[in-house]
Amino acid sequence: MAISRRDAVGIGLGLVLSACGGGGGSTPTPTPTPTPTPTPTPTPTPTPTPTPTGSIATSATARRMRFGSAVAWSAPGADAGSFANPDYAALLERDCNVLVPENELKWEAIRPSATSFDFTRADAMLAYAESKGIAMRGHTLLWYVQERFPGWLRSYDFGSSPRASAEALVRDHVRTVTRRYAGKIMSWDVINEAVDNGTGQLRGNALSNAVGNDTSLLDLAFRTAREELPTAELVYNDFMDWGGGAAHRDGVLALLRGFRDRNVPVDTLGIQSHIGFFSAQPATDIVAARTPVMRAFLDQVVALGYKLAITEFDVNDRDRIGTIQQRDTDVATLARGWLDLLFSYPQLRDVLVWGMSDRYSWLQSFSPRPDGLPLRPLPYNRDFQAKLLRDTLIDAFNATSTRPA
Ligand code: XIL
Repeated sequence: MAISRRDAVGIGLGLVLSACGGGGGSTPTPTPTPTPTPTPTPTPTPTPTPTPTGSIATSATARRMRFGSAVAWSAPGADAGSFANPDYAALLERDCNVLVPENELKWEAIRPSATSFDFTRADAMLAYAESKGIAMRGHTLLWYVQERFPGWLRSYDFGSSPRASAEALVRDHVRTVTRRYAGKIMSWDVINEAVDNGTGQLRGNALSNAVGNDTSLLDLAFRTAREELPTAELVYNDFMDWGGGAAHRDGVLALLRGFRDRNVPVDTLGIQSHIGFFSAQPATDIVAARTPVMRAFLDQVVALGYKLAITEFDVNDRDRIGTIQQRDTDVATLARGWLDLLFSYPQLRDVLVWGMSDRYSWLQSFSPRPDGLPLRPLPYNRDFQAKLLRDTLIDAFNATSTRPA
């Protein structure tokens, strides 16, 4: 599954980079002392922080950019990163001018069977956003990962004309969803994660197998979306980050070139930006080592005429050891390096984090820390108090150039 492979890439990168970083010398290698089991640092009682000043969205707007977050739906009373939680809603309303449903527009959420749709949760979220004057992005019309398909699609019988059946499913889906939110959702992650991060090839899945693993379903999804939404931003979204390998970057570039060659209407590359630490390497070293690699990639993307968006930013501090303050400083340093690199492209206007509070980060279960402590990947802590990362976001917006009108 993508999870372990992706983590493996991150870990691999850490090893490669630390292997490059050490100085030579003839000092005999000391006998390694056994690493003591880390004693979990008790989370200090948070010092009451006054309501943070400013607003990330206001700083973004001053640069003709937008800032926002993923948000989840939750059952009444449940503790989730939902707009229904007043403490959480306060953060969203203070700092965001765009929201994106974390899961509620995925096939698994809205398409219980081949012939039925259920938009209850996505509609509730849109109603909330509209009531607060906050825009909503759409994520995603097709997540191209077999494990993320609903069960019925994984084992779908494509019959004697598999290509036609697969095309019908995708066309019907894209049409139904874009039509429902036409004029309301003006930026869509049309396709998510079509390129295998290990090989750089298109992913295989039940749908792609039905069409012989070519790009036809991706093209069809973008063309159908464009027919329905002549002025919306259509995004190809993938997990570009600092840990990715050359095969993945090359695969994404080949896909983007192919879209251009075939006149497929794709406006923007969505850079998910799930960045993080997977080794002891200091943040400044990661920034220094990886910036040229990412810059070379991004230069090629914009040269093809694509815009950029940061769609799912968070900073995984899984392997950072130290006090809360040290970890937060490391997270902020790594984040600032990434933001400065991405913000140096005027083609970038939208910046979305994958949640606002550490309490609800998907990483807590997807990528837990070896020492069992909660991760601190987002701008607010578990108690909804602002962290250094929030200041870093504001500073990065303040430092960047105003986008053209
Ligand atoms: C994640 C959600 O955050 C989780 O709640 C869910 O269980 C799995 O999906 N890349 C994406 C997002 O494009 O859709 C993923 O969201 C995170 C990785």
